[in-house]
Amino acid sequence: MKIACLGGGPAGLYFAISMKLRDTRHDVVVFERNRADDTFGWGVVLSNETFENLAKNDPLSAGEIRRHFAYWDDIAVHYRGEKIVSTGHGFSGIARKKLLQLLQQRARGLGIELRFETDIASAAELAKTYDLVVACDGLNSKTRNEFAAFFKPAIETRKNKFVWLGTHQKFDDAFTFIFEETAHGWIWAHAYQFDADTATFIVECSDETWQKFGFGTMSQEENCRACEQIFAKYLDGHKLMSNAAHLRGSAWLNFPRVLCETWSHENIVLMGDAAATAHFSVGSGTKLAMESAIFLANCLRAEPSLSAAFAKYEDARRTEVLRLQSAARNSLEWFEDVERYLHLDPVQFNYSLLTRSQRISHENLRLRDRKWLEGAEAWFQRLAGAGDNKVRRPMFAPFRLRDMGLKNRIVVSPMAQYKAAEGCPTDWHLVHYAERAKGGAGLVCIEMTCVSPEGRITPGCTGMYAPAHETAWKRIVDFVHAETDAKICCQLGHSGAKGSTQLGWEEMDAPLSSGNWPVMAASTVAWSPRNQVARAMTRADMDTVRDQFVAAVAMAARCGFDMLELHCAHGYLLSSFITPLTNKRTDAYGGSLENRMRYPLEIFRAVRAVWPVEKPISVRISANDWVGADGIEPRDAVGISRLLQDAGVDICDVSAGQTSIAAKPVYGRMFQTPFSDRIRNETGMATMAVGNIFEPDHVNSILMAGRADLVCLARPHLADPYWTLHAAAKLGDRGETWPPPYYAGRDQLYRLTGGGEPTTTAV
Ligand SMILES: Cc1cc2nc3c(=O)[nH]c(=O)nc-3n(C[C@H](O)[C@H](O)[C@H](O)COP(=O)(O)OP(=O)(O)OC[C@H]3O[C@@H](n4cnc5c(N)ncnc54)[C@H](O)[C@@H]3O)c2cc1C
Ligand SMILES: Cc1cc2nc3c(=O)[nH]c(=O)nc-3n(C[C@H](O)[C@H](O)[C@H](O)COP(=O)(O)O)c2cc1C
Repeated sequence: MKIACLGGGPAGLYFAISMKLRDTRHDVVVFERNRADDTFGWGVVLSNETFENLAKNDPLSAGEIRRHFAYWDDIAVHYRGEKIVSTGHGFSGIARKKLLQLLQQRARGLGIELRFETDIASAAELAKTYDLVVACDGLNSKTRNEFAAFFKPAIETRKNKFVWLGTHQKFDDAFTFIFEETAHGWIWAHAYQFDADTATFIVECSDETWQKFGFGTMSQEENCRACEQIFAKYLDGHKLMSNAAHLRGSAWLNFPRVLCETWSHENIVLMGDAAATAHFSVGSGTKLAMESAIFLANCLRAEPSLSAAFAKYEDARRTEVLRLQSAARNSLEWFEDVERYLHLDPVQFNYSLLTRSQRISHENLRLRDRKWLEGAEAWFQRLAGAGDNKVRRPMFAPFRLRDMGLKNRIVVSPMAQYKAAEGCPTDWHLVHYAERAKGGAGLVCIEMTCVSPEGRITPGCTGMYAPAHETAWKRIVDFVHAETDAKICCQLGHSGAKGSTQLGWEEMDAPLSSGNWPVMAASTVAWSPRNQVARAMTRADMDTVRDQFVAAVAMAARCGFDMLELHCAHGYLLSSFITPLTNKRTDAYGGSLENRMRYPLEIFRAVRAVWPVEKPISVRISANDWVGADGIEPRDAVGISRLLQDAGVDICDVSAGQTSIAAKPVYGRMFQTPFSDRIRNETGMATMAVGNIFEPDHVNSILMAGRADLVCLARPHLADPYWTLHAAAKLGDRGETWPPPYYAGRDQLYRLTGGGEPTTTAV
């Protein structure tokens, strides 16, 4: 086959080598516009896993690459005058120039023709004389543009500015992050050694800081001098150097995330940065390029036609790229939002940095550096008031809100049972909540309990509006207090326009087949075309509902609940005021966020006045309507939380969605946790995270990174009321209390799960 590689970067050279290794009869030419040793950039990082793939594909070049590797195991973070080092991370680096030289050498040895200083104007022209054109012409690929109609590239330019510099200062003991606060804002460096006397030194900052420094108007030389001053104390008098002569101006860039919808057209196929990019903070661009080269070479050997090979290549590599781009997005967003985390204690800041891409879990960090993680866990426990030198997972740290002390950070999220009789909880509720309280969670939150019959969602919803309700709830609360050390929270709400609907396991949110009752909401809006149009509340309605809330809270206080939660989420009555999707009012309760929050805050203030002062109140919100700018977005949720915080709400329970049938939620593990993170770290308010959190590892990483104070699990508690005790057994933690009648079961479980470790160890 006659093969043209358009571009002599890692992708082009390595693909040429891989093809020739598979069949020496291939006639392969690499076209490169630059000279053989003209190259931008400094060092690149390769993981052990990538290196093994290279070694399997071509032991000879892999051996040469290995000889020139710089290795390091540690990550060091300089932040607020402290240097924190953790180990076990295992990277290797090599100069980009050296890597290319080694690949060029290997290519020549295999009889591949390398044509330097040959700028290819059109891949279409090459495609006429070659059987296969592999377009690996980099980030700004001309081929991608030439065939944009077929490849359909999506290019997203990210917010931060960065510049790729080098230095002879040694960073050979660790991959080093340096965060510096300047008069113009924070600026940071990612530094790593890649040969005996050179290190990569990438400087990054927000656009605002970049503008204030005036970096854009400086020459590359002036930029280096300015950055040397900023990072002087880490450079020991060494210079920063630029080798970006190919770039015009100051050489600062905004990272473009590239992903093409299609990667091939006729006999042309994209590879490397031309097809897709991965942010430098996960260091995987070269890995992607070289692994794609191996994969395509394998496909071309195995498949009967170019198109079959391309289809297989695209399919597999796209999945890999999407996986990496997702981790890269988490990572680059962490750096874009880093100012949000710059108040964190150095221990927590370091943890947050190390887990930013969500590829490294809590227990994975323990495998890397047990000592460091245990030190961090002890710090967390100390901060939580658990006493010195306690090493336990963060989920088992105590927590205090006003006078309510929780034994751990696990919350049974409110879940409607639809088993009430005329609003009255039944034996079902006693058994259901009692089991979950026995199961080890620190806090059990009861389902949305409605302040009036017409405020119920369904005929099966519980209420708090009749003396019988108070008696039944008190029985449940008394049991929880007498037999367990869990605390119990009462969630109160009003269904609004989502009321008068069927039981959860019937047709959810659909009107009843008979016996519907009239509904009211912020405005005359129906939940869906099938639901009734709600009556817009008058001031008199607002007074009535406020008084119903107050009466219900007085009953909840008499029942002895430990905490109160106002349900202001999921499209119910109070939520219908907050979101502009359903609040169309033109009076003082509609329009601006302050106006839309007025009624929910009025309810909060009224209930706060009757709820015991020593007991906390939480408010559950929908932090994202998932409809884009027309609805609540996470940015608005920060505004909502500030108003709640100012009013004296103790904790924000950060849920999302269920406010519109047009919502397009983006699901995934812990998918709502970023909203809790943002609220907690931008406002300083305590938060609870919820939504697809199901592993102890999720809980521990959320807490340790400071993304929430408490973690709510809903569905996992339907499947397993003993989720917390089972998690403790699995993790070998013996510090959680079991009900005495169950001790024999506990002991067997610990024996079966390996016995576990002591719960208190001196660090
Ligand atoms: C700041 C920064 C740090 C990075 N750090 C790392 C890291 O630590 N680890 C890592 O793995 N990756 C890293 N990368 C990414 C890495 O450099 C790229 O992902 C990788 O080089 C992609 O290889 P490629 O062959 O696709 O493209 P390139 O390496 O960009 O090669 C493309 C080649 O095509 C040539 N070319 C372009 N157009 C033409 C034309 N018309 N005619 C002829 N030749 C042409 C170019 O001159 C170039 O040599 C980093 C990138 C940046 C910006
Ligand atoms: C059966 C069921 C009933 C629910 N009822 C309520 C409720 O009464 N009040 C509430 O705020 N959220 C309710 N939710 C939402 C949960 O509290 C939680 O926010 C959601 O299920 C996401 O958490 P998970 O992924 O852990 O299940 C309910 C969820 C389920 C599955």
